[in-house]
Amino acid sequence: MSTSLNPEMILQVGLGFWASKSLLSAIEMEVFTELSKHPEDLETLRGRMGLHPRSARDFFDTLVALGFLTRTNGIYANTPETDLFLDKRKPSYIGGVLEMANHRLYPFWGSLTEALRTGKPQNEAKDGGAPLFEALYADPARLKEFLKAMTGISHGANQAIARQVSWSRYQTFVDVGTAQGDLAVQIALANPHLTGLGYDLAEVGPIFEDYAEANSVQDRLRFQGGNFFDEPLPQADVITMGHILHDWDLDIKRMLIAKAYQALPEGGAFVVYETLIDNDRSQNAFGLLMSLNMLIETPGGFDYTAADCEQWMREAGFRECSHQHLVGPDSMVIGIK
Ligand SMILES: C[S@@+](CC[C@H](N)C(=O)[O-])C[C@H]1O[C@@H](n2cnc3c(N)ncnc32)[C@H](O)[C@@H]1O
Repeated sequence: MSTSLNPEMILQVGLGFWASKSLLSAIEMEVFTELSKHPEDLETLRGRMGLHPRSARDFFDTLVALGFLTRTNGIYANTPETDLFLDKRKPSYIGGVLEMANHRLYPFWGSLTEALRTGKPQNEAKDGGAPLFEALYADPARLKEFLKAMTGISHGANQAIARQVSWSRYQTFVDVGTAQGDLAVQIALANPHLTGLGYDLAEVGPIFEDYAEANSVQDRLRFQGGNFFDEPLPQADVITMGHILHDWDLDIKRMLIAKAYQALPEGGAFVVYETLIDNDRSQNAFGLLMSLNMLIETPGGFDYTAADCEQWMREAGFRECSHQHLVGPDSMVIGIK
């Protein structure tokens, strides 16, 4: 056997769920929110978290070793990142998606092999349960958790889109499947000349409106409830769709792209953003894992490459199709009508 080969990467990924579940449990117990109030010693922190004495020290030291906490002379504290992004009381909190991952995705992913063998979702819809959005939206707490999770996962990309698209050419936009409305809010904050609409299922309305108000853009942002299977999309100069096409099979992707085309004026822009898989399908592991997550969560959804999306857009009549990287695993495709 060649001595230069080592199994480190294989073991790291194979047992990677130990580290991720430790972080998810810390978020579930609000360790970082607690420590953002002030640093604490082991016994105080263990008491505040209600942990059994057997493994409390191991647990907090694991978070230190993973780089999520610091420990100085026995006193535990957040790192600058966990203090900014994992303190529930801060607007910069991105833990929503990790709370949802802990409650829903972690157990569902346990059935990945079955999903790969059957092609069937492994979430609430398993065994004849209601489809994803219906199941989630039937429970106000799960609805809120899911919509906040979308803000958490899309916030960086939303800020980049608000900067990178040539908004000065346009006056109005519609964000289709807007969830809590973070993209619409970031676009409105960065482009004072624009007015926009968040379009989504009716149950989402009050949460969108609260978020627009909390960001002081409610005078330029409105919510419109609707179902994109039942009606044309609202008209505007720009239509955006984030993490929408990947939820559905190819026929529905094409239907949504055609509806976007119909709702735009000549010269209007269609902006699609996702964790786009790289065209060679060999680099953006997160984009490919997101596609497996669509297997777990939806009956026909899948992620795709920029080349796939540009092709579907051209077939729908769009011209000047191009793509741009946003942040991390996220990129956007723009098609001009
Ligand atoms: C995965 S989330 C994406 C949220 C947001 N665009 C983002 O990128 O963070 C999908 C969104 O599509 C909305 N949606 C699902 N089915 C819909 C339908 N039939 N009509 C309108 N919106 C729908 C959901 O309510 C949800 O807000």
